[in-house]
Amino acid sequence: MRFTLGDTALQDTTCELLALPVPEPGTLTAPAAAVDRAVGGRLSELARAEGFTGKQGTTLTLFAPDAPFRQVTLVGIGARPSPEALRRYAAVAVRRARDTHATRVALASGVDGPAVVEHVRAVVEGAGLGAYRFDRYRASDGTPAVEDATIIAAGGDRTSLGAALGLGEAAVQATCLARDLVNEPANVLTPTALADAARAVAEGGRMRCRIIELDEARTMGMGLFAAVAAASDQPAKFIVMEYEPGGSAGKKAGGRRVALVGKGITFDSGGLSIKTAGGMATMKGDMGGAAAVVGAMSGLRAYDVPVRVLGVAAATENMISGRAVKPGDIVRGLGGKTVEINNTDAEGRLVLADALAFAAREGATELIDLATLTGSCVIALGDHTAGLMGNDQALMDRILRAGAEAGEQIWQLPMYEEFLDAMRGDISDLKNSGGRQAGAERAAAFMGEFVGGTPWAHLDIAGPAFYDEKFAAPYISSGGTGFGVRTLLRYLQSPA
Ligand code: BES
Ligand code: MN
Ligand code: ZN
Repeated sequence: MRFTLGDTALQDTTCELLALPVPEPGTLTAPAAAVDRAVGGRLSELARAEGFTGKQGTTLTLFAPDAPFRQVTLVGIGARPSPEALRRYAAVAVRRARDTHATRVALASGVDGPAVVEHVRAVVEGAGLGAYRFDRYRASDGTPAVEDATIIAAGGDRTSLGAALGLGEAAVQATCLARDLVNEPANVLTPTALADAARAVAEGGRMRCRIIELDEARTMGMGLFAAVAAASDQPAKFIVMEYEPGGSAGKKAGGRRVALVGKGITFDSGGLSIKTAGGMATMKGDMGGAAAVVGAMSGLRAYDVPVRVLGVAAATENMISGRAVKPGDIVRGLGGKTVEINNTDAEGRLVLADALAFAAREGATELIDLATLTGSCVIALGDHTAGLMGNDQALMDRILRAGAEAGEQIWQLPMYEEFLDAMRGDISDLKNSGGRQAGAERAAAFMGEFVGGTPWAHLDIAGPAFYDEKFAAPYISSGGTGFGVRTLLRYLQSPA
């Protein structure tokens, strides 16, 4: 979808669908009233007749074949035009456009005032994300894609509006890349394919990219990653990307170096502690953390991120064969701690432990990992919310703030002493499963043993990384959601 900033009044805009956000109680705002006048008052008449109240998500369409905009759709945004309400509005509008085969849309963005720039960004995000489809593997249903979206801002200066539009577009592109990676089936999106995707992103973004093969990873001491990878016929790949800020941003970077670390299990069968058929059904998505990392890395240049960023994705399948790691096996991770693998299905924390230790060794000053780590986290917080844990409250507070701005729900979970106690081994330093209670927190406590003293935050995205249709929000389709990408980009953009 191509986005442009409109330079005409709403009522003079040539398009196939004009969308207007309407807050409760459904009274038309001044620019919408001008559209109403252009259609001889029929819009307000219809709104009255239909009892349109501006309730969030509700729509009302007036066909006006003689007007330059052909049809106008009112979309309710609830009590106030928050960025999140506008993201939803834009997604509803774009879906409505698709349903009516309109390929050129115009979207009014929010209301005048200091928030207008944020509103433009939100409308672009909502429209671009709402239009996303993963249809590579099915015959076309004949519905044309929405191609052009003109954003019509109420006030604001063109330079900052243009910049906001660019940021919105970059967030859409980065999130949709992550969605594609998650939606690709595991027979296509192998660790090798994920490494290729990372390499392509690095080339496009002028970054270094290094792929560490399994043998080398083992030699380096990544025994936990190697144990998980042992049974897979698909070669495991330990992916490392390095972004350096350019131009004036580079000088401000200082010594700060943020590592983004993603769980990249391209298929999780559970290993010998095998999952049920139902439990395995969506496990092609167990690389959602790695997808978020690669997606976010792809947006760094457009965001002109002013700090150095290291992107790490530990990619492997978790499979079964005669070479598989067995419950009770003891292996040594990077940094020297030994782990008894008492459950081969708790593989995410193993690959992340080595990846976090690697990133800390590489000189990261902040570690942020994302992982579809535990069913426990989904039980605790549901499908829409990521769990946040870590060892540095200031870092976690900044992530919470970035998440709130991005419209991605994140809730902090505790890190009590006893969670780590549950992870201590009987004949090893640690074991990888501590049982059912506080599963998300115990997993985090385990990983915390591998970060040394580096400030670290862990996002358990097992719930929000992958949606069923019944949970889909207007700008989130079923399947991969790209959760985390927009939070990371906002986080990296704002000063520490
Ligand atoms: N990939 C799963 C977690 C998961 C479950 C993600 C559901 C998305 C949806 C992870 O590797 C896993 O199997 N975790 C186990 C850990 C347990 C064996 C300690 C879990 O949560 O049940
Ligand atoms: Mn597992
Ligand atoms: Zn897993």
